[in-house]
Amino acid sequence: MTLSGILVFVTWCLSLLEKKQVYAFGSACKPHRGLMMTFAAPLRRFSIAGQQLTGLRFRALQSSASLPAGFAREGPEFHEHLHLALEHPTRRVKLAELGNNQAYTSSLVTDFAQSGAFRVLSTEGIATLSQEIDRLERFAVESPRIPRVLRGGSMRSRFIHGLCHSKALAVHMSEMAQTELIPHPMEIMNGHINFAPADHTLTVDRWHRDTVQFVFVLFCTPPEEYEGGEFEFFVGTIAEAEALLRTGDVLPRNRCKLIGRQETGFAVLQQGSEVYHRVRPVRKGRKRTTFVQPFVPTNLGREPCNRLSDTYNGVDSLECLLPDWARYRCWRALRLCECWLQEHRLAATQEANVVQITAEKLSNVVETLPYTSDRHALADALNSSVAELRLHVSTSHSSIKHGCHNGSSAALLADALGTIDTAVHDVLTLRETTMTYF
Ligand SMILES: [Fe+2]
Repeated sequence: MTLSGILVFVTWCLSLLEKKQVYAFGSACKPHRGLMMTFAAPLRRFSIAGQQLTGLRFRALQSSASLPAGFAREGPEFHEHLHLALEHPTRRVKLAELGNNQAYTSSLVTDFAQSGAFRVLSTEGIATLSQEIDRLERFAVESPRIPRVLRGGSMRSRFIHGLCHSKALAVHMSEMAQTELIPHPMEIMNGHINFAPADHTLTVDRWHRDTVQFVFVLFCTPPEEYEGGEFEFFVGTIAEAEALLRTGDVLPRNRCKLIGRQETGFAVLQQGSEVYHRVRPVRKGRKRTTFVQPFVPTNLGREPCNRLSDTYNGVDSLECLLPDWARYRCWRALRLCECWLQEHRLAATQEANVVQITAEKLSNVVETLPYTSDRHALADALNSSVAELRLHVSTSHSSIKHGCHNGSSAALLADALGTIDTAVHDVLTLRETTMTYF
């Protein structure tokens, strides 16, 4: 082929890519909107230069499903320009500093462990959040782990919903953690509030690791109004902490650290599934309130918890929890399909067409699944979202069927199907919590 022939061929290929024709397998199959964005495959490290939280991806998290029975989103609206005053922390702890080795940290999406305290809210933001927390306190309940907790504040307050889903906040958290983070796809997780128990001998929250990967803990009470209630973390690995607590009832004093002054409107971000932590008892003062927002990495990585019973706190309404779990697992399966499509963007194959259709259906579940206590309807929605992919696997010579998962992209689709299978089992069988803590 002559040089001019090569140039013509390259130009033609580029024009195909630009028109997205590489994904067009017929008039009914349009490119999934996720492909318009740049996705990194799971476990690939985050690059700030390539960082993007597009409106498209963010919108997908704002479920259009109506609120579950008994919930009403009320109160003032949240405005980023008015209520946020984001600053950067002066301290950042890496997982290696807690004793984690390179082999372990490289299996995670980032080696970020914990930040120091940094400002999040403006004076007006602090005042409005405080009013909303006062308004919602009557909905607080006692869970097996936390004596007084409010769940799903995002479903009861317009302001809290806006704060939880703030794009500026998510971008700030992503830069800090060095991996792209988004608010948790389960709305019941968003706007979690811990209150100090009336009994001063009880810890606000016991020693534990989180079942969600990243949490942002915002201090809501002026520190001069209480004594105790310090956020404390263990300088060691999760395995060490759990081994020590199995053989004794306390962690060594010299290996437990405090995060410092807990100013109102300031927060810490941590990879909570990898940092053992607790909140000490409040010795004096009526109030000590924190606002906790979980974030999940779009890069997925190894999950700290993939069974609903292991993250079920025993008090969430199942009408809310089960659809939220189904939605979250569909979001995860969707991300896996998107990563597969990204890796096969030049493949005009039947398998690519099937994955494309599956991604569209999963995206639809994420955005529209209604709140319901009908377990079988949820299982049907989950199963139908991957029906084409499952049929393809069962009737073709796909590498997924034959278990060739060793680091290949087939592992992404096997993981997507496994995620949905597990979710179906969870929504049909959840009875009680199996969450473990010391
Ligand atoms: Fe926690």
